[in-house]
Amino acid sequence: MMHPSLAAGSALGLALALSACAVPVATAEAPQTSAPVPAALTGEAQIEDLLARMTLERKIAQLIMPDIASITPEDVRTYRFGTILNGGNSGPGGDDAAPAPEWLALADAYWDASTAPLPGGEPAIPALWATDAVHGHSNIPGATIFPHNIGLGATRDPQLMRDIGRVTAAEIAVTGIDWTFAPTLAVATDDRWGRTYESFSEDPALVAQLGEATIRGFQGEPGTQGFLDQTRVIATAKHFYGDGGTAGKDRGDTRGDPATLKAVHGAPYPPAIDAGVQTVMASFSSVNGEKVHGSTAILTDYLRGELGFEGLVVGDWNGHGELAACSNVDCPESLMAGLDIFMVPEDWKGLYENLLAQARDGTVPMARVDEAVRRILRVKQAYGVFDRPKPSARQLAGNFAMLGSQDHREVARRAVRQSLVLLENDGVLPLESSANVLVAGKAADDIAQQSGGWSITWQGGGELANKDFPGATSIFAGIDRALTAGGGSAVLSPDGSYSARPDAAVVVFGEEPYSEFVGDRDDLAFRDEEGLELLRKFDAADIPTVAVFLSGRPLWMNRELALADAFVAAWLPGSEGSGIADVLVSDADGAIAHDFTGKLAFGWPGGCAPDAAVMFPFGAGWSYANPPARRDYDTDCALLEPGFGAGLRIFERGMGPGLQALARDAKGQTSLSNLSGKSPSGILQVSAFDSRAQEDARRAQWGGPAQLLFGWQQRAFPQDAALRIRYRLYNVPDGGISLRGLCDDCDIAVDLASTFTLGAGKGWRNATIPLTCLTSNDAAIAPNGIALQSDAAFVIELESVGIIPEANFEGCDGPF
Ligand code: BGC
Ligand code: BGC
Repeated sequence: MMHPSLAAGSALGLALALSACAVPVATAEAPQTSAPVPAALTGEAQIEDLLARMTLERKIAQLIMPDIASITPEDVRTYRFGTILNGGNSGPGGDDAAPAPEWLALADAYWDASTAPLPGGEPAIPALWATDAVHGHSNIPGATIFPHNIGLGATRDPQLMRDIGRVTAAEIAVTGIDWTFAPTLAVATDDRWGRTYESFSEDPALVAQLGEATIRGFQGEPGTQGFLDQTRVIATAKHFYGDGGTAGKDRGDTRGDPATLKAVHGAPYPPAIDAGVQTVMASFSSVNGEKVHGSTAILTDYLRGELGFEGLVVGDWNGHGELAACSNVDCPESLMAGLDIFMVPEDWKGLYENLLAQARDGTVPMARVDEAVRRILRVKQAYGVFDRPKPSARQLAGNFAMLGSQDHREVARRAVRQSLVLLENDGVLPLESSANVLVAGKAADDIAQQSGGWSITWQGGGELANKDFPGATSIFAGIDRALTAGGGSAVLSPDGSYSARPDAAVVVFGEEPYSEFVGDRDDLAFRDEEGLELLRKFDAADIPTVAVFLSGRPLWMNRELALADAFVAAWLPGSEGSGIADVLVSDADGAIAHDFTGKLAFGWPGGCAPDAAVMFPFGAGWSYANPPARRDYDTDCALLEPGFGAGLRIFERGMGPGLQALARDAKGQTSLSNLSGKSPSGILQVSAFDSRAQEDARRAQWGGPAQLLFGWQQRAFPQDAALRIRYRLYNVPDGGISLRGLCDDCDIAVDLASTFTLGAGKGWRNATIPLTCLTSNDAAIAPNGIALQSDAAFVIELESVGIIPEANFEGCDGPF
């Protein structure tokens, strides 16, 4: 049955205005085969009617958002949760790479569960499903994947954002999902932050402009028939607010006077609210020491009072549980501060029970519960869900050919072209389409790497292969097509070897994928030397080079900039790698079809120290029409020298000055001279291998419970000193891994499981563990040794161990 009110008031985005335009629409008595909520009422009258007929249990259930990995349709039928999400690693049947039809089938299953009739006239309110479609519907194999926001910022093109929002909404609607946790409106002001690439720009005005346009694309134009129609989805402005101001630390603290902070980090929100954004996500982070998830000043006084937001506020992933007074299952404080929906992926049952009890005993007043439920129902009404059929019966649902369709990919390819920023070109670009070009670098034919984090999986990269991105085009494949069409050729050579001397080499390299805190860094020096080595090699052979740099942020790259004949910042372009060849390769007749138009949305550092001056400012970017003048680059970077500054070298470059090392197991302990040897039973073995130089690194291999101990003499360290371990892991540890300090007051075991779980498979990484975490006393007492303990089989490679003079203290829970 089609409801008459599909295009009526509720779908016009007016629902958030409190005007009660209650014009009852007479509906015939008909079986509820599609829309579960009788549409006899509209506007506020409908909301009040629903609320009046809901039990307290069902109201509380509206406030809870579990993850599909932890909740079955049967649970939804029992509890009637108002919303669900799929986190970055969740998918139907436990498979985050499940094909699109399975997502739609699951959407139907949750719909059926949430809309199954209830006894006693209680309304069955459809659940909404939310997903992180942050650069296209990027959890779904075969969907169009757009450049991450940092690349879109370089396009400066709001019309393109509207197109991207519209296309992404359509692809989401194909899978029956209702809501995207996008766009991110962070104004990233410190590029060491692991989420810098989710930010359009360091400039609040540009974030505001592009964010607003994206929202209009997702939801349609408020006040028109098309607003939140069946081709659109609900958008989220996130993460409110100050997420980008935390001095480079994810979930950190944004400090400053409130007026200034609002002018910077709050600036994108008024235009987003004007665009009719239905939901706002609270930030994990704090403002001046106060967690946003517990801040009435931010979530209520500022967001609602000052900014006039009337939609719903959703929490971030267990963000409420991070309040000092709360746990994942118990947090009336967040509700009272202004959160309407708790994102509680796994612990939904406990939170539901506690909130219910707190509503019954008055800890949370009924008025606050009703207010939150009203807001949720209004968003549902604005989205027209009371009038919609089940997911698979909606306009675009099941139209799987639309996922990654040619038209959609064209929009993404245009975005890639427009996002490229030219920083150097001595004339090697454009490549003539008749040229023979070597395409080098491991990233050249790696769609997962060019897509970055939030692509199929939460972290992206890792195990993903090109086959996990059906229909996508790698950067190499795009260059190959363009050259083949022009009579030239492209040869893929990840390691840069060649038999026939090429006319030019394109070197594709950059950051490995990451997301959130996993991508936080201590400085902006790009250390991976794969690209640098390739550029050196071609330079020595007099082969002209084009560097294509993939990254989630500007990084200090002067060594590469100095060597390359052309340098293109390509950010994280996504599934349409051919957009790069569109700009790099000229037509068969030598004409340039697409010039560079991208301009930096973030200043690019000229030195590697955290306080280095900007070299390429915001707005920089050259083109064929306006070529760059060759620069000189300072290629020195003190941070690249191995060493610990004023700290202490314990083990480094194969040596340990004054190092005492022991391998200890149930049978006793052995001293490891030159940090090599075995524990008494042989269960722990440490051996040398070559990392950058001969025998400069160690591989420690556990067969079962044992400890590796390092001792040193120095005892006085600065208050904020930290242990720095440079390590590489191939596999997630099987059992418990902990670290203890050795001293009288060192009886605390620091758990390293989360650190190593995140670090596995990601190449060389630093773990920085504040020394205070190793002592039960104050920092005055420092350990004079450490013990790394594993309870099960475990292999770790170590390049260096030392103590650095200062660390940003982020607590002792890890990951470090
Ligand atoms: C992120 C959000 C995301 C949410 C759901 C959180 O960890 O901070 O940006 O929307 O998870 O996946
Ligand atoms: C989820 C993400 C989420 C993250 C938060 C992951 O397991 O898949 O969606 O953002 O956890 O820590």
